[in-house]
Amino acid sequence: MPAPSATPPSPPSQQPHTLTRCWPSEADTQAFAQQLAQLPAIRRATLTLHGDLGAGKTTLVRHLLRALGVPGRIKSPTYAVVEPHQAPATDGAQAPLDIWHFDFYRFDDPREWEDAGFRDLFASPGLKVVEWPEKAGNTLPTPDLSLHLSTAADDSRLARLEAHTALGRECLAALAAPECP
Ligand SMILES: Nc1ncnc2c1ncn2[C@@H]1O[C@H](COP(=O)(O)OP(=O)(O)O)[C@@H](O)[C@H]1O
Ligand SMILES: [Mg+2]
Repeated sequence: MPAPSATPPSPPSQQPHTLTRCWPSEADTQAFAQQLAQLPAIRRATLTLHGDLGAGKTTLVRHLLRALGVPGRIKSPTYAVVEPHQAPATDGAQAPLDIWHFDFYRFDDPREWEDAGFRDLFASPGLKVVEWPEKAGNTLPTPDLSLHLSTAADDSRLARLEAHTALGRECLAALAAPECP
C-alpha cells in the first residue's frame, strides 16, 4: 500500500510542549506578560519560574500581575515566601482573581509547607506563580507551565516555556508570537 502523501495531524498528546522566546529588553518581557494575562487558562494555572538571580523572574511576575490589573506596589515575596494578590473581575471573568506569588529562595524547612498552609493554597482556585520551585523540593505539585529564563551575552533574556499539563498546552497553543530568530 502506498504511503500517505500528507502528514496526518498529530494527536494532542504529540503537540509541541515547548515554546521559546527572545526578549532583548524589559519591554519585550512586559509585552509577553501582557499576552499571558490575556489567556483565560492562565487564571487557573500554576506557573513556575526558573533561572539565576537577576534572570528576570520577579520582573516577569510583576508585569504579569500588573497586566491582570493588580493595583499598587507589587512586593516581592522573598522574605515572606508567599505574597497574596487579587486582580479585579474583567468582562470575560466575572469574579476577582486570587493570585499567589511564591518565592522559595529562602525556604529551608519542609514542615513549613504544611504549617503555612501551602498545600491548601496550591489546591485552591486562582493563579499561582512560583520562583525557585526547586527549593520547595518534591512537595510542589506539577506545574501547568514552567518558564526557564537565562541571560545572553548581549543581556537579552532567553525564555523557554514548557507545558506539563493539558491546561499548560492550552496556554502555549494560544500564544502566537514570533519565535527567536
Ligand atoms: N529582557 C529583560 N527581562 C527582564 N528583566 C530584564 C530584562 N532586561 C533587563 N532586565 C533587568 O534584570 C533584572 C531582573 O531582576 P529580577 O526580575 O529581580 O530577577 P530574578 O527575580 O530572576 O532574580 C531587573 O533589574 C530588570 O530590569
Ligand atoms: Mg526574584
